[in-house]
Amino acid sequence: MKLGVVILAAGKGTRMRSTLPKVLHPLAGRPLLGHVLDAAVALGAAQVCVVYGHGGAQVPAAFPQSQAVWVEQAERLGTGHAVLQAMPAMAAMDRVLVLYGDVPLIEPETLNRLVDDTAETRLGLLTMELTDPTGYGRIVRDKSNRVLRIVEQKDASTAERAITEVNTGIIVAERACLADWLGRVGNDNVQREYYLTDVIGLAVGDGVAVATCAPESPEEVAGVNDRAQLAQLERHYQHGLAEKLMRDGTSLADPTRIDVRGSLICDQDVFLDVNLICEGRVRIGANCRIGPNCFLKDCTLGVGVEVFANSIIDGATVAAGARIGPFARLRPETEIAEDCHIGNFVEVKKSHIAAGSKVNHLSYIGDAEIGARVNVGAGTITCNYDGAHKHLTQIGDGAFIGSNTALVAPVTVGTGATIGAGSVISRDAPAEKLTLTRARQATIEGWQRPVKSSS
Ligand code: UD1
Ligand code: CA
Repeated sequence: MKLGVVILAAGKGTRMRSTLPKVLHPLAGRPLLGHVLDAAVALGAAQVCVVYGHGGAQVPAAFPQSQAVWVEQAERLGTGHAVLQAMPAMAAMDRVLVLYGDVPLIEPETLNRLVDDTAETRLGLLTMELTDPTGYGRIVRDKSNRVLRIVEQKDASTAERAITEVNTGIIVAERACLADWLGRVGNDNVQREYYLTDVIGLAVGDGVAVATCAPESPEEVAGVNDRAQLAQLERHYQHGLAEKLMRDGTSLADPTRIDVRGSLICDQDVFLDVNLICEGRVRIGANCRIGPNCFLKDCTLGVGVEVFANSIIDGATVAAGARIGPFARLRPETEIAEDCHIGNFVEVKKSHIAAGSKVNHLSYIGDAEIGARVNVGAGTITCNYDGAHKHLTQIGDGAFIGSNTALVAPVTVGTGATIGAGSVISRDAPAEKLTLTRARQATIEGWQRPVKSSS
């Protein structure tokens, strides 16, 4: 059985009040439509077709890696008309599943269940019971509980409006039948639209039994129409991630105060304090502790790393036993080896720091290769940029860099070298020796402070 997926994404999204097309608004750091495309891929769809309109070429351009076929619906004439635009792209499919670009949290398991449970019939619907069904299409059934048709809220009678079983909009149908039914759908209704939902009545007219099944949770089929709904779904999604982390052996100080915008993998017994934000691919080794208010992006932390409050780790690798922060910033292409200490107000960019080295206070380390067991004193700066180019600073194993040293790159400090505090090192400093550039301290005998004249 070849399953095709059609994703409707042509809507305007007026209530978002945004210049960004609605389906490109992010949820957990990914566009809404990206979540739906992922669900289609997870289902193993043989063909995916996205019907876009509002926002134009911006929408397909946002998914350069996607294998989907993109079809523009120039005029928004209704959901039935939208699916019809996708039918040529579905020609080789056996069944077609219709999803929505602004319904991001649909679970592939639910869709699999819909597809499996309705395999015997030509048409399956995902429906649910709502205490307040306002705004949704209602499922009209006969006395034997067989689905007869769907009536839209705007077209419904008072009695029909009292029905609490609603259409989620998600349907699966045999491809050839769907094409035939869609060709017969008219627009004789209040909105003058070609409704996808009219397919149900046409199928029943052809003697087709319509099967239904329900989602696990209402959030799965909740649409995003405005920013408040988007924020609600974001919270729901983040809550689900937090629960999963805890089930898998991670402690969270507060499961409502973590946001993962990408993927976070934690080994066992990690502790995450409040207000952690993760972006991209973050991997945290066993027994790590992450302090409050940290930002981790595309980084890997080894076993037992401690990250203290208010630290930022972006595109860096930190090996086992290292201590980072508080208030540290590790920037891309940084590698911190085992047991290093990177302390407060220290920025490290594109540098390698070997095992056991310490940069504890108020330093900038950029484009540097620092050996093992090096001590970098407070206020040390690598002057890596001459206004045109970046240059390398190399520091050998066991070196000691006195406080407030400026290392003017390119420059090398030898193994075991000592640099006197306050030096400006612009030439290589030899191994095992003390090098310093400092005016000699003088004491002026007999000097007196000026005093105010008493006139
Ligand atoms: C639709 C269903 C309704 C169901 C509800 C669930 C129809 C006629 N009604 O109503 O039974 O309860 O969804 O949320 O299908 N779209 C296009 N092109 C169009 C029209 C719509 O791409 O020409 C897209 C929209 O961007 C949106 C989706 O289809 O993502 C649903 O359209 P919308 O107008 O919001 O349908 P509802 O009135 O909510
Ligand atoms: Ca609508």
